[in-house]
This record gives sequence, structure tokens and C-alpha cells, in this order.
Amino acid sequence: MRILHLWSLLSAATLAAAGNHLPPRNYSTHDYYAVHMSPSTSPSELAAHLGLTYEGPLASLDHHHVFKAPKHQNDIVDEARQELKRRRRKRLVGPGYHPLDSVRFTQKQKIKPRHWKRSTIPPRQDRAGPAVTEAIKQQREVASKLQIHDPIFEEQWHIFNVKTPGNDINVTDVWMQGITGKGVTACVVDDGLDYDSADLKDNFFAAGSHDYNDHEDLPTPKLSDDQHGTRCAGEIAAGRNDACGVGLAYDAKISGVRILSGDITDLDEALAINYEMQQNHIYSCSWGPPDDGKTMQAPGILIEKAMVTAVQQGRDGKGSIYVFAAGNGAASDDNCNFDGYTNSIYSITVGAIDKNNEHPYYSEACSAQLVVTYSSGGGDAIHTTDLGANKCTGQHGGTSAAGPIGVGVYALVLQARPDLTWRDVQWLTVLTAVPFDQPSDWKKTSLDRMYSHQFGYGKLDAWAIVEKAKDWKLVKPQAWFYSPWMHVKKAIPEAGQGIASVFEVTADMLKDANFERVEHITLTMNVEHQRRGDLVVELISPAGMSSHLSTARRDDDAPYGYIDWTFMSVAHWGEAGIGNWTVVVKDVHPGNQKTGVFTDWKLRLWGESIDASKAKLLPIPTEHDDDDHDKIDDHPAHITSVTIPTSTVPTMTSLPDDHPDRPVNQKPSTPVNEAEQTAVTTATVSSTATASATAAPSENFLPNPFPSFGVSKHTQIWIYGALALIIAFIAGLGTYLFIARRKRLSNSRDAYEFEVLDGDEDREDTGMLGAAAGGRKKRAKRGGELYDAFAGESDEDLLSDEEGDEGPYRDREQQYNEKYQEEGSDAENSSGSSAGKRQ
Ligand SMILES: *[C@@H]1O[C@H](CO)[C@@H](O)[C@H](O)[C@H]1NC(C)=O
Ligand SMILES: *[C@@H]1O[C@H](CO)[C@@H](O)[C@H](O)[C@H]1NC(C)=O
Ligand SMILES: *[C@@H]1O[C@H](CO)[C@@H](O)[C@H](O)[C@H]1NC(C)=O
Repeated sequence: MRILHLWSLLSAATLAAAGNHLPPRNYSTHDYYAVHMSPSTSPSELAAHLGLTYEGPLASLDHHHVFKAPKHQNDIVDEARQELKRRRRKRLVGPGYHPLDSVRFTQKQKIKPRHWKRSTIPPRQDRAGPAVTEAIKQQREVASKLQIHDPIFEEQWHIFNVKTPGNDINVTDVWMQGITGKGVTACVVDDGLDYDSADLKDNFFAAGSHDYNDHEDLPTPKLSDDQHGTRCAGEIAAGRNDACGVGLAYDAKISGVRILSGDITDLDEALAINYEMQQNHIYSCSWGPPDDGKTMQAPGILIEKAMVTAVQQGRDGKGSIYVFAAGNGAASDDNCNFDGYTNSIYSITVGAIDKNNEHPYYSEACSAQLVVTYSSGGGDAIHTTDLGANKCTGQHGGTSAAGPIGVGVYALVLQARPDLTWRDVQWLTVLTAVPFDQPSDWKKTSLDRMYSHQFGYGKLDAWAIVEKAKDWKLVKPQAWFYSPWMHVKKAIPEAGQGIASVFEVTADMLKDANFERVEHITLTMNVEHQRRGDLVVELISPAGMSSHLSTARRDDDAPYGYIDWTFMSVAHWGEAGIGNWTVVVKDVHPGNQKTGVFTDWKLRLWGESIDASKAKLLPIPTEHDDDDHDKIDDHPAHITSVTIPTSTVPTMTSLPDDHPDRPVNQKPSTPVNEAEQTAVTTATVSSTATASATAAPSENFLPNPFPSFGVSKHTQIWIYGALALIIAFIAGLGTYLFIARRKRLSNSRDAYEFEVLDGDEDREDTGMLGAAAGGRKKRAKRGGELYDAFAGESDEDLLSDEEGDEGPYRDREQQYNEKYQEEGSDAENSSGSSAGKRQ
């Protein structure tokens, strides 16, 4: 206890002295360690023991600390832990107190690969017709009423479109009500912010700003291409003045955190992503992992922890609002579900449409996309503030420019209703986004909203969302329900028809989880495959809504599949969640001899609680949250077979008649059709579960409905390949069914066509276990192989070999929790004590 006190004093003193900042990092001379410690040991004691320098606490993350040491190739902290363990095993050291026992997690910091900025340089010519005279008149009236004299206001078509009236953010009547972002601060996490700009300096908020590249207080743009953040900031909060144009929330405050202009580590990014989370309300992030159609990357555990912390504690517990640009990789088949930032349940993913409400070639689709708004394409781009004392640009584009428009709108929403939680803001988006008449895979959801993977719930409408916010009843706190790990461990047929696995959620399971209705779903899965880009994953909900969780990527040659990857979908928003959830994994690239195995999956439903008073706060994620999935003994797999459900369900309607440019709608030739019908008849079963599934392979064959047919030669080859595949499938079906039937001799439901896992036996282990939605890669192998490979070794050995000494960590953590939770400490895993904080 004395140690504990001493250390609290010490840390308070350190905090005060450092002004909440760690000393600047210098990665060319030093290594840095982020360490999560139990509070029983002081960081200084650990530092002394290991010969490290204690730098200070890791800002908002409870019990996390930063240490440094002169550069060295070894991981000093981890190796010391291993050594201690070895000595204990050989009984050279007793089991008594050792400072290293306080280490619950350690991570030597590595320079991160650079994020990509999500801007594109748009073509210049303006193809839109002449301005509509009446619209120009209205625009001038608005400007005069609001006393807007900004010189490029009339060019800011995303605010008031005089050429294609209606194709704008619909904000001017919101401003007329005096709702202009007052009292709200948005933070642009980017490459800097030109706080000297005449258009930004009055709204600039220095206290919410920092530079994590050069470790300075102000986010000064310094590199020759450091104009991205300034442009984004201008869209949000450029002042109403004589410089350039106005931002969507021109009376909001704007801060900047600089991370994109130099080397950073996870530690820096974790600090940046919730920087001053009580004063910064919204974080605008127009960047992410490369949009190259082959990257699959999620935020590291420290960053994930920082985001969850901000969502639970930021804005006085109402939760920080994260807005991420969807990504610009659509032309390379990229999909925002391969990006762990955009597919986080904590971020609002904003894609782009152009001034004609058309899909610009770059904007990525995915089931995690919530909404779209205007950006470059159709011959124009976004007109906003630029780097320089009084400089403007008409060349801001990509999803980079769409995200900040969303941020500006959310600043207006928060002025109208500062008490909204992060989930309320997402609800309001779902309920007020405006679907528009553009071909896409629009489908009606349980809430009677239209959803498209390409456009989310439609385009953001500032007026509609602010009006709805005004008398919005806050949603009850978050609840969640986790399925057990579903062990499939079956080869994925190379012919493309896929393999399905079903988990049935019962009313009782949700009641036990205090779970009323679905908002987000996440699905964490392991698939081994020799070519990742061939895989397609669909999730069909009990309500018949289909999420395209993963789509094929022609350039993704990664010779492994998905390792603990978490996909996300917002397409099931408002569903009850009760019934069969079916996941279908397909290999859509036949004949390339690349094969794979669907190993396992785990479904998580996130939504609103039934009883607010019983709601808990989600434990801050740890790197062990997905470690439970090899518990085969606990979850004996029951392999049965089922007809593959299709994504098309008769009760669903499409907004525009259907989508002529979707490759999936290419009509197969007559012979194929006939063959298809045969297939349907053969496969149809009497079971009610599959009665609605019409097994129309053509709907499911093509991985990605988004790029229009003929976009590129590549795509065409790919589409024709898929058509060939349909034919191949039909041809092979007879053979397949024959073989499949033989394999299922012991199974009475042999009318089913595909192999699934039945979760009946697994149900007792469901509920609110573990934490975290995040997926992380860490092992090369999954599933049973792991067990076989280490058969005969003790658990501890198994864990340490596989995970790098995380076995003892786990033990410690348990002991620690047992010990300290009783004492009322706010330990990481004690969710109970802070549950009441959520308003
Ligand atoms: C890091 O330290 C080296 C050696 O002292 C120095 O040359 C370099 O400028 C420092 N870098 C930073 C970013 O401070
Ligand atoms: C745009 O705002 C006006 C009020 O200014 C409103 O009447 C209209 O419905 C809004 N548009 C949409 C699509 O909601
Ligand atoms: C779920 O599917 C199983 C067969 O796999 C079926 O027995 C069960 O009735 C289905 N449940 C619902 C709610 O449809």
C-alpha cells in the first residue's frame, strides 16, 4: 500500500511537470516501450530494475507507461520476462515478488508504415451545365442574410449547388437557425494545420493541437505537401470572413494533431487519436492504411485501447466522435472492410459521391460504410481553404474531402444537442441519410431504411439530421452478445459455391445479454487460403439482410487468408438479431489451384440494452481477446450441411429498379439458366430455415457488385472469369453432389448441399465474455493444427511458444484482478465500477 501511494504521488508530480506530455521521442537514438503495469509496482522501480528511463504515463490509458533505452536490437523488457520465467521454472528464482510481475503487457515500439492521405487530384474540367439563374438568386439571398462575404462562397457547390440544385449538403437553413458549430471543437488528425491562415486562425484551438511528428505543441505544416490537413480543416471550420470560403461549421473551433508527416509508432498514434479528448469533440481522420487493393491492416492494440477509452470517457463520457474517410481504392477492388480503422464500430465511415450524385471511381464500398457525402468527381472538386496566409483551392478531393464535410455536419448536430452519445450520432445518421436515385445494391433494412454497400444509408443531409437531433431521445447504453467460436475447419470448394456455417441466436441468449436490438455486428474469422484475394465472405442475418463482409481483390496475392480479422457491418442496424446468422465463405477464382480452409468464426452483436440500469461498460480491449478460440473441447463442432442461402431474399426491395451496371446482373446464357434451375431443385430442402434461400449462384458468384462493368480490362477478365465459373459450377454440380452425399452418409439431412457447423452445443458459453471488436494478426496457424503441433506440452509452454510469454501475463492478470477488484481499484477488467458513468 505504501508503494502504491508513493507511486501515485510520483506520477501526479510527473504529470504536472510534463504538462501532460511525454518528453519528445527520438527514434534514431532510443527504443521506446509501452508497458501496461499493475499499480502495485511503481514505474520507477521497474525502470531501475531493467535499466530503463521512465518517460511518463501513456496519457489516457490507465496504468500504461512509457520507458526508453538506448537503441538496441533486443526487446529488453520482454526478454527479461522470459528469463525470469525460465529461472522460475528451474527454481533458480522463487515465486515471490518481482517487479517484472507487474508487467501485464509490453510492446517495444516500431516505426509504423506510413498511412496514406485519402485525397486524389481530380481532373479540372467542369462538365456540369450552366448555373440555374433561380438558384444563383437564392444563393445570394442566403449569403446576404447570413452576411457571408467569403470570396469563394459561390464556388462552394457542396454547400449550395447552383448547377445541379439539391446536390449539396442542405445546410443553409440550419445556419439560419444560428446553428453554426458554436461550442464544438473538431480535431483534424493529419499532416498539420495552417493556424496562420486568415481563414482558420480565429477558429484555431491551440490547446487541442499537437505535433507528434516533430514533438512540438503546434501542428505546423512543414513538408512541401503538408496541405492536406489545412484543406480538411477549411471544410469543417473555415471562418465567415474575407478569406476563401466557409466551413460547414464556421463558428466551431478547429484543432490539429500532426501525425502524417514523419515517423511515428503505435504509441504516438495512440496519443494522437484521443488527444485532449475532453476538449476535442470530433476527430477527423482522412487517412488510413494503403488503399492499394492488397493491404489488410488494423490499428494496433494501443490505438484500439485509445479509441475505446475516448468513446467511453471523451466528451464527459458521451464519447468522442470519430469520422474516417472510406478510402480511395475502389478502382483497385479495395474495400473499407480491409481497413481496421474504417471498419471499427467506433468510427463513422464516410464515402464520396460527386456533384451529380454519382459514384466516383475511387470511393470504396463496404458493409461498414455508414454514409456518403460530396467530393471530387464529375468534373469538379471541393473548394476550400489552402495552405498559406490567404490561399484557396478548388482541387480538394477523394474521400479525404468527404470525411470532413461529415465532421462539419456533426459539429452542427452537437451544437444542437451536446448531450448525444457517440451511438446517438450514428443512429441519427442511419435514420436521416437520404438514399438517392443511383444504381447500386440498395436494399431495405429492418428499420425501413435503404442500405447500399457503396453509399451506406445514403447521403448526409445537414438539415435533416439536425432537425431529427433536436428532439431525439437518447438511446440506452450499449450491450453486446458474443457467439462462441464456431469451428468449421473445412476446405473451401474451389468451384466457387462456398461453404456455409450457421449460428442460431435465441431470444433467451439476447435476454441474458440484456440485448434489445442490433446496431453494429462484427465477425472475427480465420480462413487459411493460398490467395487471399480470391475470398468472398457474406453474412446473412435472420431478417434476410446480407452483408458483403469481404469482396475479392484482384491484386491481393497474400498467400494466407484472414488471421483473426474482424469484419464489421452496419447493414443490420435495428434488427432484433434472433434467429440464424449464416456466414458463407467462397473462393471466387476457380482453376488457379489456390485453395483454402475455413477455420473458425465468431459473431458479435453490438446494440442497445434492454435495461439501462444493468448495462456495463465494455472492458478496454486487450491483445488476448481472441485467444479463446482454440478451446475445441469446450465447443465440440457439430458438422451438418445446409443449402447455401443467397443474398437475395424475396421480401427485400431495391430502391432503383436494380442495377444495370452491376456485374452480378449480367444475364447468364439460356443453357446456364436451365442448369441453374436444376441446381436449385436439387438443392432445395423442406426446412423452413432454407425455404427462402433459392440457391441462385449467379447472385453470389461475383465478389464485388460495386465497380461498374467494363471499368478496366482487368475487371472484365474477372467478370468473364466469374461467368465461366458459373458454367463450371453447374457442370461440376452433379459430381459434387454425388461426392458430397457420400461424405454425409451418416447425416440424415442429406438434402442439404453445403457443410455447416451447428452451434447447438456451444450455447452455454455465450454472453458477455472478453472484449474488443478488433482483429489482430499474430499467429501464422489457427485451429486444430495448433493443438496437434503442441500436443504433450503444458499449457504454459504452448502459450509462451506461440505468443511470446503471454501465459504468465494471463495468470498475473487474473491474480491481479482478483486481488484488486475487491479493493475497488479501477482495474482494466473491472467494468462494474465505472458502469454508472455512462449517462
Ligand atoms: C535525435 O538525436 C540525434 C543525436 O543526438 C540528433 O542528431 C537528432 O537530431 C535527434 N533527432 C530528433 C528528431 O530530435
Ligand atoms: C433540405 O432542407 C430543407 C429545409 O431547408 C428541407 O425542407 C428539405 O426536406 C431538406 N432536404 C431533405 C432531403 O431532407
Ligand atoms: C436455424 O437453422 C436450423 C437448421 O440449421 C433450424 O433447425 C432452425 O429451426 C433454424 N432457426 C430459425 C429460427 O430459423
